[in-house]
Amino acid sequence: MKHLLSIDELTRDEVLDLLALAETHLAGDKVDTLKGKSIVNLFFEDSTRTRVSFELAGKLLSADVINFSASGSSLNKGESLRDTVETISAMGFDAIVVRHKSAGVPWQMLKWTDASIINVGDGAHQHPTQGLLDALTITRYLGRSDLSGIRIVIVGDIAHSRVVRSDVGIFNLLGADVTLVAPPTLLPPDISEWKISIAHDLDDVITKCDVIYTIRPQRERINEALLPSMDEYIARYSITNDRFARLDEHVAIMEAGPLVRGVQMSNAVADSDRNLMNQQVKHGVAMRMAVLQSLIGVTK
Ligand code: NCD
Repeated sequence: MKHLLSIDELTRDEVLDLLALAETHLAGDKVDTLKGKSIVNLFFEDSTRTRVSFELAGKLLSADVINFSASGSSLNKGESLRDTVETISAMGFDAIVVRHKSAGVPWQMLKWTDASIINVGDGAHQHPTQGLLDALTITRYLGRSDLSGIRIVIVGDIAHSRVVRSDVGIFNLLGADVTLVAPPTLLPPDISEWKISIAHDLDDVITKCDVIYTIRPQRERINEALLPSMDEYIARYSITNDRFARLDEHVAIMEAGPLVRGVQMSNAVADSDRNLMNQQVKHGVAMRMAVLQSLIGVTK
């Protein structure tokens, strides 16, 4: 494995290896594995947890990590994406961690650099390390890596979410049954190939699931006309206290962050032990260590 661009490029065995390797990093100990290697975080879009998570993961592996952000860069002086990437690449980084608002940018970059590329979000397309850390969180919660028979409901803005596209791929690979719940305007037009079921009413499915994963309305990519009114959205798609009370006690809540409290779920649900959001963040560091180690570590 030289690059990580899409969940769809991974085999089940590669995913299982990454899950096992991430487990070894959960204690958060610093190791020498990537001493002498350098990583650049190339973020053309806002981020809190993904950028910090990759920075910490790289540092815990003893790599040198540099953060680039588009604001304050020569892009503001008219430099092209290609020239920016070639400039960064000429500095000799071993890995480039990239987030960009346009789908496909990480693939374009393959032509401009020899470094390993890790896609951490290209528009609404893919965010593979989020899929991997979500799989790590679910498999640890359930105590098994085979998700056959596990029913995962993903609710919210499916159309504009790269998290959904990565999660559906990896949940399928591990054998889970995935149901998407969204207003028709927030479902992508092209899901005939996806191995999922669709429901339009959250109340129909919450009593028959093991995990509910909520996706915030991705306002930065959304045409407001597609959104129902917020009151209607909350009434139909939010994990309210009332819905939470109807869930079986084993059902976990997940969310990639940033969380929109009161819209995706109530404050009480957000603060409950069954909301795995902070576990996801913790697991993210370990999973990114596993990915970096697999891509640019000496022993592959
Ligand atoms: C996600 C993203 O950027 O796609 N956030 C993240 O990486 N944790 C999800 C989101 O923005 O809703």
